[in-house]
Amino acid sequence: MKSYKIALIKGDGIGPEIVDEAVKVLDAVAAYSGFDLKYEELLMGGCAYDITGDPLPQETISGSLNSDAVLFGAIGGEQWDALPREKRPESGLLRFRKELGVYANLRPAVVYDELINASSLKPEIINGVDLMVVRELIGGIYFGEPKGRDEEKGWNTMVYTRNEIIRIAHHAFKIAMKRDKRVCSVDKANVLDVSQLWRDTVEEVAKEYPDVQLTHMYVDNAAMQLIRDPKQFDVMLTGNIFGDILSDEASMLCGSIGLLPSASIGDKIGVYEPIHGSAPDIAGQGIANPIATISSASMMLRYALGENEAADRIDNAIKRTLKEGYRTQDLAQFDAKEICSTSEIGSIIANYISK
Ligand code: IPM
Ligand code: MG
Repeated sequence: MKSYKIALIKGDGIGPEIVDEAVKVLDAVAAYSGFDLKYEELLMGGCAYDITGDPLPQETISGSLNSDAVLFGAIGGEQWDALPREKRPESGLLRFRKELGVYANLRPAVVYDELINASSLKPEIINGVDLMVVRELIGGIYFGEPKGRDEEKGWNTMVYTRNEIIRIAHHAFKIAMKRDKRVCSVDKANVLDVSQLWRDTVEEVAKEYPDVQLTHMYVDNAAMQLIRDPKQFDVMLTGNIFGDILSDEASMLCGSIGLLPSASIGDKIGVYEPIHGSAPDIAGQGIANPIATISSASMMLRYALGENEAADRIDNAIKRTLKEGYRTQDLAQFDAKEICSTSEIGSIIANYISK
């Protein structure tokens, strides 16, 4: 029997609840498809800081590098906001991405037909939306030097090197080749030099993909176009901070941020995580939507383990659950037949795996 090692990082807030449901579904699909998953739990975020004094213990890095893939929940919470920046949960996550070299963050936004009424936008604007944000994840203003603050001033620097841009651009074009062959590169080249380099470099890389249509858009316009006519987009290629913002925006096309998965990929190990945060305000109440994490587990099976059929089974089980009208609180107003807890939704999806 094929066996895979999965590093599980549950994290803070709703992290543990949603990862538990993804594991439930993964176990169901592994049993059905005949492979074995071995989990190793690792600490990151506020919970890691509380226990070890470090939001990213060395063991978490080595344990992750030693696995076939990482399934990640969420980190952060108010109680850690006052810590020095390098001790904060978010710094642990950024260091983690950097150490693992996961430069390409793939954030698909696909509107489920079953939830067409859940978006704040009109059904005719969003039906059939299927786009992929390809966000550069380990460069840009999140990591640029110099950075710092004193009493009077705070500063960060947006830096990209040609090589960083070339690498992520290839990734985006390759993904586009398997989709609708359109890349829209998003920048702020009318103001920022770093964006002009981005634009020129993406143009250069595009020459190697003559079948892919490349367009460029300023980020402010892209934010507007995403709401005006999201169907114009296939692959949106962009840098770290613009991608952070646009992917949250894209999630609302789908009705709830609790639905959107992501994959962070590099040359070593991939990290699979929901795009939402740790939602401390609803943690422990059993009302969080686990679908984003379950869907991230499906991406993990597909991209990291090549278990495409098993991934399809998860995707179909999610769709069926929504179709049957089972909803968590966040989607309660939208064609719900039954409002379910986090764990009930996980069980329903797990149950549909074999049906
Ligand atoms: C995300 C999150 C993170 C980011 C935070 C928690 C550091 O918002 O994954 O989108 O900004 O990248
Ligand atoms: Mg974000």
